[in-house]
Amino acid sequence: MLRPFDNNLPRRLRFGRGISGELAAELRRLGCSHPFIITDAGVSGAGLLDRVRGALEAEHFRSVVFDGTEPEPPFACVAAAVAQALGSFDADVVVALGGGSVMDTAKLVAATLKDGREASALAGIGKVLRRPVPLVCIPTTSGTGSEATPVAIFTDPKTGNKVGVVDPCLVPDVVLLDPELTDLLPKLPTAAAGMDALVHALEAFIAKIATPLARGLALEAARRIGPALPAVCRNGGDRDARDAMLLGANLAGLAFANSSCCAVHALALPLGGQFHIAHGVVTGCLAAETMRHNLPEIREDVVVFASALGWKDTDPDRFPDQVAALARSIGLKDVLSSVTVPPTALPELARAAVANRRLMDPNPRPVTESDALGIYRRTLGLHA
Ligand SMILES: [Fe+2]
Repeated sequence: MLRPFDNNLPRRLRFGRGISGELAAELRRLGCSHPFIITDAGVSGAGLLDRVRGALEAEHFRSVVFDGTEPEPPFACVAAAVAQALGSFDADVVVALGGGSVMDTAKLVAATLKDGREASALAGIGKVLRRPVPLVCIPTTSGTGSEATPVAIFTDPKTGNKVGVVDPCLVPDVVLLDPELTDLLPKLPTAAAGMDALVHALEAFIAKIATPLARGLALEAARRIGPALPAVCRNGGDRDARDAMLLGANLAGLAFANSSCCAVHALALPLGGQFHIAHGVVTGCLAAETMRHNLPEIREDVVVFASALGWKDTDPDRFPDQVAALARSIGLKDVLSSVTVPPTALPELARAAVANRRLMDPNPRPVTESDALGIYRRTLGLHA
């Protein structure tokens, strides 16, 4: 018998090279005239902000920009952006132009802009309840999938712990997927974000709460990402691969938005947060050993997923090693090896990972603290 499920999806999603140039038309469609653009220094420095803003000005839209989004943002980042919007003009739509940190910040700016709520008070599941202004997301990396999800992740600056805000009303109204904005992304962020997208698709596919829609989206994401990820890491100028990665990352985001991420993400959040390692490096490197742990429960799924990735060898026993080989071949293992993680830090990381029931409960096989410790040790090459 099918169990009941909910699906939450952006109301409108457009894909195409140059499509971000049509932002003004999308704002008119929403009935909005005062966009508040959330971005960061990297996007601004790469010239992408000027490009999008220039297209808006050509259509006589006056916009205000907050470009102070921090990587792994604290809740204070939301308050800083809201203060800027209130001090300048009466924004009636929030536009996110950037990667996951920018989109997550924009989600809570849109939720708190008009009613004075504290962003940190919305942490948890189902506490946002309303978003007074529309939200448009324009991703500039291929990986986070944040443009598709009801999730925003923030960092507690005191502890380094990640805090999730989850609510269906955080799903954007409009998503513009423009691969041109990703063409100049350097190799390491391309590899890390791309591997994270692959992990999103994999975890969304195997999660105990995966909806039928999510399972289909995850496989279509794998079909795009499987060939494109090694290709785009070999040659960043491969436009077909850039196109496939942006679409694949979005499909993977849509998949986990309607399923869940699982143990890889539960293990990745404390490790990445405490040691300031890029999210996709951590998820990409932890995936192999976590799947080795999950293998008794996912053997059939792994055959289907490996086939969707286009891998010739679909033997489930070799799947974890193939995932590890991919992470190594695109440079993620080298990045992780360059970070010193003392073995004494692992028990606390394991405790924090297992305590994340939002991500651990959907995992196909239970993960104890001892299991988590083993996965960390084998991934980091540390022995008891
Ligand atoms: Fe992720």
